[in-house]
Amino acid sequence: MFIVEAPVEKVIELDNQIFLLKIHCPEITRSIKPGQFVNVRVSETIYPLLRRPFSVCDVEGEYFYLMFNVFGEGTKILASKHFGDTVDILGPLGNGFNFNDDYETAIIVAGGLGAAPFPYLIREIGNDKNVLSFIGGKTYRDVITHGMKNITMATDDGSLGFKGNVIDLLNENIEVLNKSKIKIFACGPNAMLRALKDFSIKNNFECEASTECAMACGFGICQGCPIESTKNSEKYLLVCKDGPVFNVRDVII
Ligand SMILES: Cc1cc2nc3c(=O)[nH]c(=O)nc-3n(C[C@H](O)[C@H](O)[C@H](O)COP(=O)(O)OP(=O)(O)OC[C@H]3O[C@@H](n4cnc5c(N)ncnc54)[C@H](O)[C@@H]3O)c2cc1C
Ligand code: FES
Repeated sequence: MFIVEAPVEKVIELDNQIFLLKIHCPEITRSIKPGQFVNVRVSETIYPLLRRPFSVCDVEGEYFYLMFNVFGEGTKILASKHFGDTVDILGPLGNGFNFNDDYETAIIVAGGLGAAPFPYLIREIGNDKNVLSFIGGKTYRDVITHGMKNITMATDDGSLGFKGNVIDLLNENIEVLNKSKIKIFACGPNAMLRALKDFSIKNNFECEASTECAMACGFGICQGCPIESTKNSEKYLLVCKDGPVFNVRDVII
């Protein structure tokens, strides 16, 4: 785990007010795995006090990207960064996706900004497996396709792609999913992850999900990020240390 004052290369604004922050940080890019995250101190001043956690969105050589929208004070500051500014990075943190398992097709399921960890996962899977991406959002503005492969989309209001949520979309495509041995990789709002857990158990699909909660330290000290475990041996796990990626069968989302 490193703490690095890393230079900002640039901020790229995608459609729909989604930002990519490109950061030069070989300490992170040398070892980070898809699904792991970094905890970012966005400002040199005391405010905002707490670091903000972000999945690593993609890695290119010694650079990595974060993907976010302007949500509160921290992301507002990040969006205004320029070449020559620095950000204080703590990472790599948490456990990433297990993508080298025995399966033929990776099914990416993303809701809104849950798209963030997948460009890097898809890059690392490479051509070893097939990849199908199922992406959902409330409206067309919330559908993020950056870095995705073989995309099928759903929106709640029908303004883009299938009308319905992304779980409805998976049910519509169940024959495609049953054609090969699949593993689902997911990230998105908790309601989506809960429904996806039920869907995966019902259809006997393997599924790992990146979960989110408010965090402080990011590495297991403050105990501020508990998630209920389904295993009898341990009542709670920590999202930052034991996750953020979990087998959906192991946790109560
Ligand atoms: C492991 C992990 C990975 C993440 N990856 C990404 C990512 O790749 N891209 C991205 O945009 N966001 C990501 N997030 C969420 C991100 O950390 C928060 O959105 C961020 O802290 C917002 O900072 P802010 O200062 O802009 O907003 P704040 O001022 O911190 O928050 C504004 C409001 O949102 C609430 N809030 C803040 N964070 C969360 C949260 N995690 N869950 C629920 N409510 C919250 C606050 O209580 C407050 O009311 C991730 C979170 C975790 C735990
Ligand atoms: S954020 Fe401190 S223990 Fe998880």
